[in-house]
Amino acid sequence: MQERTERLKKMFCEIYGGSPDDLRIFASPGRVNLIGEHIDYCGGFVLPAALTLDTVIVMRVRKDRKIRLAATDLPDRVELDLDNLEPARNLKWGNYQAGVADELQKAGYTLVGADMLYDDTVPHGAGLSSSAAIEVATAFALAKTGFEHGGIDKNPDPVEMALISRRAENNFCGVSCGIMDQFASAMGKKDHAILLNCSTLEYRYVPLRLGKYCIILADTKKKRSLADSKYNERFAEVSKGLRILRNHLPQINNLCDMTPEDLKNHIDKIEDPVIRRRVEHVVMENARVHKSIEALEKNDIGLFGEYMKEAHESIRDLYEVTGPELDAMFEEALAVPGVVGARMTGAGFGGCTVNIVERDAADEFISVVGKNYEKRTGLKPAFYICDIGDGVREIVLR
Ligand code: GLA
Repeated sequence: MQERTERLKKMFCEIYGGSPDDLRIFASPGRVNLIGEHIDYCGGFVLPAALTLDTVIVMRVRKDRKIRLAATDLPDRVELDLDNLEPARNLKWGNYQAGVADELQKAGYTLVGADMLYDDTVPHGAGLSSSAAIEVATAFALAKTGFEHGGIDKNPDPVEMALISRRAENNFCGVSCGIMDQFASAMGKKDHAILLNCSTLEYRYVPLRLGKYCIILADTKKKRSLADSKYNERFAEVSKGLRILRNHLPQINNLCDMTPEDLKNHIDKIEDPVIRRRVEHVVMENARVHKSIEALEKNDIGLFGEYMKEAHESIRDLYEVTGPELDAMFEEALAVPGVVGARMTGAGFGGCTVNIVERDAADEFISVVGKNYEKRTGLKPAFYICDIGDGVREIVLR
């Protein structure tokens, strides 16, 4: 980290001038979701973990109300006015930051201007929540410096930063996402997954004791074009399913309040077969998260792997958000010896699969799956052996 931050401080001074002495550094990670897909916005349980791939912000507070943004991997330079954020809504880059500033101010935070340089190691568009990493890092940095401006030296509450970041994405960026990504980015803990109840935000950390296994992320490199509109379409479909079912089960507030038994008894109340498939995925996936936790707590990684496979099949056949590339990566992974589980992770329509692989078989996995996937799709994939890291924080260097 030291080497990276030194490089970034130097780059910051080249862009904005001044000395490196008054610079602050904040970081927030991307995430992988182990199981519980497309159910966070249905009040379900999810099991994400924060990555060590992250967004780092180097920042210097300004005396005015301007926020200037730059990134290490983009030519764009953006200037935001904290008193007039609306025009930033249509920016391709900078809209997340503007949305976060807007929601912080709406929640009553006093903000001060800043120059900021962003450095992301979370690959963009790979389904690993590079956007949540940017949002949560921005929220934490702006809230913390805002507090200090008012004379209070305290860290912002990470859960609140997650909620504010989600609202930014919902209200400013137009994606009806759930809370999972921002929560994982804010609350991640090294070597642990987070079992999160998305309806109450109760959570607990689950130690990831993988023994002879490791987690490998396989990036399909399929561009996630149209992903946001498809995502909102799924959100609308399950909302419709909930409306219909509530006529018969008035006690449910969310689809994930239903048990598999309720599903059996009431699914025929939904006429549209598409909505029926979506609802079936949601209820059964939520049940699968509970079974997965039991398996993980017994250290039965093999059984957890089986649930991962079921989860992929469900999201492929019932929720229909995978596509040929994710399915090819899933199939090629399962054909390799030493793989106990594989599934797509994140929103889908491209992005990554998550794989549980015997450590000794990791090199073989990367070379064989890489070759076979490329042969099938014409795309050159990327692989990351995954380390689980901490959530949002200020990095204080001595
Ligand atoms: C995206 C969203 C999350 C969640 C996942 C699917 O990552 O941001 O809220 O819905 O898709 O599980």
